[in-house]
Amino acid sequence: MKNTNRSNGIFNIDEFYKNYLNGPRIFKNRDALEPSYVPEDLPHRDEEIEQIAGKTACSLRGDAPSNFLCYGRTGTGKTATIRFVSQKLAEYAKEEQPWWIYINCSIVSTPYRILAHIYNTIVGEEKIPPTGLPKDVIFKKLLGLLDYKVENSICFLVLDEIDLLKDSNEVLYDLTRLNESLDSCRTCLIGISNKLNFKENLDPRAMSSLGEEKIVFKVYNANELGDILKSRASVAFYDEVLKEGVISLCAALAAKENGDARKALQLLRKAGEIAERSQNKKVSTSHVNKAQDELEREKEVDYIKGMPLQAQLVLMAVYLISKFGKNRIIVSGDIYEVHAELANKVPGTRTLSRRRISDYINELTLAGIITAKKRSMGYYGRTKVIHLNIDMSLLESILSQVKKIKPLLNYKPILIQKNKVRINQNVFRKL
Ligand SMILES: Nc1ncnc2c1ncn2[C@@H]1O[C@H](COP(=O)(O)OP(=O)(O)OP(=O)(O)O)[C@@H](O)[C@H]1O
Ligand SMILES: [Mg+2]
Repeated sequence: MKNTNRSNGIFNIDEFYKNYLNGPRIFKNRDALEPSYVPEDLPHRDEEIEQIAGKTACSLRGDAPSNFLCYGRTGTGKTATIRFVSQKLAEYAKEEQPWWIYINCSIVSTPYRILAHIYNTIVGEEKIPPTGLPKDVIFKKLLGLLDYKVENSICFLVLDEIDLLKDSNEVLYDLTRLNESLDSCRTCLIGISNKLNFKENLDPRAMSSLGEEKIVFKVYNANELGDILKSRASVAFYDEVLKEGVISLCAALAAKENGDARKALQLLRKAGEIAERSQNKKVSTSHVNKAQDELEREKEVDYIKGMPLQAQLVLMAVYLISKFGKNRIIVSGDIYEVHAELANKVPGTRTLSRRRISDYINELTLAGIITAKKRSMGYYGRTKVIHLNIDMSLLESILSQVKKIKPLLNYKPILIQKNKVRINQNVFRKL
C-alpha cells in the first residue's frame, strides 16, 4: 500500500483526502451493493417471482389476494423479491394504486406498535405515539383511516421477519379482525420468515390467517450467486475493474455459507473498498481474501460483544491466562479458577459450577473463538486443553469495550502469581 498519508508515523488527514481524490476510481455506483438497493432484475428467482405475481395479480382488478407466507434461508432474496414485485405491480396498477405497508418485525414487534406503525405510515407522520393509547382506540382509528384513505383499493401488509414478533398470535388476530371489520378497503397479509418451523408455535386461528400456501425460496448455489454478483457488479463498478476470479471467489465463499446472497455482495463490496483504500486500480482475489478475513473478524467482534457477561468473563479468563502465563497449557480447571476470581471482582456476577463453565467453553468453541481439545492428563483424568483462536490484541480491544470487565484487563490471575497459592476459596502467600 502506498502510504504517503503518514509522515514520521503521524497520520495526515489532508494528504489522505488528496490522495483519495486523485486515486483510481473503482466504484461507479457504490449503492448498488447496499442491502436496500432494489435491483432491476433478480436472476434465479423466476419461479418465486412467478408465484408471487400470480397470487397478487388480482389486486390489479381490485380484488384482494389471499394471505400468504414466504419462507427461505437468510439471503435467499425474499425481501428483495417482494419489493421487486410491489414495484412491478405499481407500474401496472392503472386506476387504484395498491398501498404497501412494510413492517420489519425485528424493529416494530409488539401488537400496539404494529397497528401504530400502519396508521403512521398511511398518514405519513407520527400521529400515534409509540406508547400510551389504549390499543382498541388505535384499532378503531385505523379502521376509519383505511376505509377513508385506501378506499376501494388493496392494502398489502408485509410482515418481514415475522418470526421475531413479540406476540405473533395477538398481532395476527388483530390484523385478521381488521380485515373482517373494514367496509371498503381490503388488506392482504404477506409474512416473510427464515424460520421454517415458525408456524408451529402459532394458535390454529393465527396459523390459518396466514393461509395454507407458502412460497419457498431455494438456496442459491455458487453459479447462481456468480450471476447475481455479475449483474450487480456491472452497475456498481467501472468496467474492467474486477480482475478475473474475483466474482467466482466471492460466489464460492458465500455458497459455503448457505448460499447467502447478502454475504456474497458484502464480500464484493468490501473487496472493492479494500482495493480503493490501498489505491489499487483493480480489485483482485487477494482483496477478496482480505475482505473475508475482515468480515470474519467483524462477526467475531459482534458475537463477543453480544455474549452474556458470564461468557465474556470466561473468555476474559482465557485471555488473562494466555497473557500472563507465558506458554502455559490452559486446562478447563484453570478457567474455572480464574473465572471465580474475576466473578468476585465484578459486581452482580457470581461464581459458576464447573458444569456451567464447561457449557460456556463449548459455546466459545462452537463460535470458533477458542479451540478445546480433550486430552488425557494421566492421574488427573481427562480435561480440555484450550487455545485462543483470535488475535490477542483484537481480543483485548474487544474486551476493553465491555465496561464491566475493562478494569480487569491487567489483572494477573492467582494461579500465575508465583508467590501465591489458592486452596479452596482462600488465597495464601507461599512461604
Ligand atoms: N436474485 C437476486 N438478484 C440480485 N440480488 C439479489 C438476489 N437475491 C438476493 N439479492 C440481494 O441479496 C441481498 C439479500 O437479499 P434479501 O435481503 O432479499 O434476503 P432475505 O431472503 O430477505 O434474507 P433474510 O432472511 O436474512 O432477511 C440483498 O441485497 C438483495 O438485493
Ligand atoms: Mg429479508
